[in-house]
Amino acid sequence: MDRRGFIKICGGTAALAGLQARYVQAVSAAETKNFNRVKLVDGDGNPIKASQLSSEEAYIFHYPYKSTPCFLINLPAKPAASMAMQADDGEYEWKGGVGPNGSLVSYSAICAHQLSYPTKEHSPISYTGGTVSKLAGRGGMITCCEHDRVYDPSQGGKMVVTSKEATQPLAAVVIEYDGANDEIYAVGVTGGLLYDEFFRSYKRALLAEYGPGVAREEVSGTTATTLMSKFTGGFDKC
Ligand code: FES
Repeated sequence: MDRRGFIKICGGTAALAGLQARYVQAVSAAETKNFNRVKLVDGDGNPIKASQLSSEEAYIFHYPYKSTPCFLINLPAKPAASMAMQADDGEYEWKGGVGPNGSLVSYSAICAHQLSYPTKEHSPISYTGGTVSKLAGRGGMITCCEHDRVYDPSQGGKMVVTSKEATQPLAAVVIEYDGANDEIYAVGVTGGLLYDEFFRSYKRALLAEYGPGVAREEVSGTTATTLMSKFTGGFDKC
């Protein structure tokens, strides 16, 4: 039964109204979608060690699809344990950081405004690390210089510095920390997923880079994780 059908059947009684409300809440389109459990590895296929990650810049890996880039960020401090977030499709909970210091967070690197993303040649969107962004007036932000959006990775990737029309937060990648081995896994994505729009918007470029059908294939097993400065030829600063 689809959601609309369920609501129609339930619509007659006060007793069922609460159930209906709970059902609508439970199916928020922004809740976590599980994808393959994928280990983050370096360029040689060795597992990334969480305790050795730089906090000066972000890492890039691709997940949940072979063409969809994500940031892995080691924040300078542990962020809030969790936050209630609002995407265009509904509410969801961002569950904070993981890792040995609870400071590792991960987000889609596809801008929630108009889908700018990092390529091997260039990136308008990046993590500022300790460098103070002119746009944000502080460091530690994800800036997209295409149209000047700033996202705070310590607050679930929500847009901050609101002189521009608001966008939903960056989708958050759900990562797990294997403390016994100091390794990191990506397991899902939560928030506003923009993958269909991304595949449509960059159809030609993705076809040229990956070949027929490959861009939409889910990543499985491992995913290569690279410092942003090594992944891309250059990135904008704003
Ligand atoms: S695409 Fe990023 S700000 Fe517009």
